[in-house]
Amino acid sequence: MSETAELKVGGQTLELNVIEGTEGEKGIDITKLRGQSGYITLDPGYANSGSCQSAITFIDGEEGILRYRGIPIEQLAAKSSFMEVSYLMIYGKLPTQIELENFSETISRHTMLHEDFKKMYSALPKDAHPMAACSTTVGALATFYPDSLDPRDMRQVEISAHRLIAKLPTLAAYAYKHSIGQPFLYPLNSLDYVGNFLRMMFGNPCEDYEVDPVVRNALDLLFILHADHEQNCSTSTARLVGSSMVNLFGTISASINALWGPLHGGANQSVIEMLESIHAEGSSARDYLERAKSGDESARLMGFGHRVYKNHDPRAKVIKKACDDVLERMGIHSPLLEIAKELEEITLKDDYFVERKLYPNVDFYSGVIYNAIGTPANMFTAMFAIGRLPGWIAQWKELHEDPAFKIGRPRQIYTGPNETDYTPMDQR
Ligand code: SDX
Repeated sequence: MSETAELKVGGQTLELNVIEGTEGEKGIDITKLRGQSGYITLDPGYANSGSCQSAITFIDGEEGILRYRGIPIEQLAAKSSFMEVSYLMIYGKLPTQIELENFSETISRHTMLHEDFKKMYSALPKDAHPMAACSTTVGALATFYPDSLDPRDMRQVEISAHRLIAKLPTLAAYAYKHSIGQPFLYPLNSLDYVGNFLRMMFGNPCEDYEVDPVVRNALDLLFILHADHEQNCSTSTARLVGSSMVNLFGTISASINALWGPLHGGANQSVIEMLESIHAEGSSARDYLERAKSGDESARLMGFGHRVYKNHDPRAKVIKKACDDVLERMGIHSPLLEIAKELEEITLKDDYFVERKLYPNVDFYSGVIYNAIGTPANMFTAMFAIGRLPGWIAQWKELHEDPAFKIGRPRQIYTGPNETDYTPMDQR
């Protein structure tokens, strides 16, 4: 006998089904609530509301657990690659060696852009934020590929997914090259996914570019750690926008914009700017934290706190360790990393942060690595987008493959004026 919930409302008692997930999470099914009672629920920010059932990613915020398709993030971080994780996200299983080779080969062959994209970039200001450039150019992919826009044609969806995963690093690198007035480098199919991106970002036509394996491995790890995260803001955007039956390119363009926000993926840029300002002012981590505790909005502790993780963010733990490894192997002493570690150390013992369960999230240490490999701060969120792209695609696909698919259209509680008449201009 499955569990039910009893709701006494409006003079009646409703019995609502309870849905239990494979990890024991329970949700009250309110799909018939308004029809049976005339009532809706209200949950601004959706902290208590599930939008879907999903088999892609599982998070236990209390235990600091994150798994992709059931596999713990720590194992994927230690043993997998971003290409393999992208396949896992999209196809729902780890690939065989042949499947991985074919997938990686297909992605390599789609990394080049239509030449007309150069004209698009030349129309953008030099200081265009890379996230604006990426959402613009990703949306424009729909104009270049009218042959693969049908969200219900499996083959068209697959080719769009391949094109997006292949081309986003090229689009992001070109946004950076445009901003520094350097020529675009065509992708090289002889390089792997991450090496190709590094060369397009930091190479130039005057000399050969040598991919540093330490940097390449660090970036591959960061992309793995960012690949998906349940129904976060930008993924919920992918589902809501995708539910209108718009094509995948238009959907991903919207998700890129959602990720750009400083409360979401944009936090990684804000974190490094916060660390740099503390360093530049010669201020101390403790002084900054006192300002953050005072509610000084200009001193919000970016990279801390999370809607779901009320314990540590497992990704932050992996990235923090990678910071030490990468910087040591690159022979870099980063004062920003020292400040970051001091901020974390103090907050772990400070009631203000402990009571509010504020721990470092994925954005807190990632910027230290991006900074160490020479990435400009305004490119950090574009790196996040490259990592998150397979997750957005997988969630969008799951939405379209759901037999219960319907367009997303939330209700509201109206609090405006009751019926009133139009006031003629001479009486206002
Ligand atoms: C990502 O959803 C995801 O999964 C996102 C993500 C993913 O992989 O997709 O994990 C990626 O976006 C990580 C989060 C990056 N954002 C930041 O680092 C920005 C700083 N953090 C926050 O603004 C905040 O913590 C959020 C937005 C992340 C979460 O906000 P919530 O869940 O709505 O919590 P809240 O803002 O209501 O905060 C709860 C309390 C409040 O205190 P009170 O007003 O109740 O006294 O904690 C305080 C907040 O004021 N608080 C902070 C704080 N974050 C929350 N105080 C100081 N510094 C902070 N960073």
